[in-house]
Amino acid sequence: MKRIAVYPGTFDPVTMGHLDLASRGSAHFDRLILAILRNEDKEPLFSVAEREHLIRDAVGEFPNVDVESFDGLLVDYAREVGATVILRGIRAASDFEYEMQMAMMNRKLQPSLETVFLVPSEAYSYVSSRLVREVARLGGSPAGLVPANVETALARRFDHGDSD
Ligand code: PNS
Repeated sequence: MKRIAVYPGTFDPVTMGHLDLASRGSAHFDRLILAILRNEDKEPLFSVAEREHLIRDAVGEFPNVDVESFDGLLVDYAREVGATVILRGIRAASDFEYEMQMAMMNRKLQPSLETVFLVPSEAYSYVSSRLVREVARLGGSPAGLVPANVETALARRFDHGDSD
């Protein structure tokens, strides 16, 4: 049986930390699906289609990683795609409480679905999409914290890019 894992998130935008986790996760599953939450409540910087495109470009090097989007309950989506594992990252102790709550809620909703936590490289332990957005919005450089295509997209979005 193929082992399929879902790595869900907002990915607005995808960071090197996300990619590091996807790379580590992809080594342990036959198929890893990066699943972008379609959340109508949040005002994202990048649309779901843009995020999907940016992530797809960035994960091209991993043959067993796919990019999709979902709405509704994560456990329902996981069942639809045949996933037995939810993959999430824990960067620091501050992530733990939120991640634990989600893992417990998902277990309550679907006991057979396991949440597996991986730890990204310490080089990315302080990197979050929120801080990347803030730095880029205020004219700072997120170089090295996001893939090159996201760096370009951020510069364009905040009009700090070349005028080509
Ligand atoms: O990158 P994020 O914003 O921390 O990801 C949060 C995400 C998408 C994993 C979480 O909000 C989620 O799974 N939402 C789907 C709705 C759901 O299933 N909620 C109940 C279980 S917590």
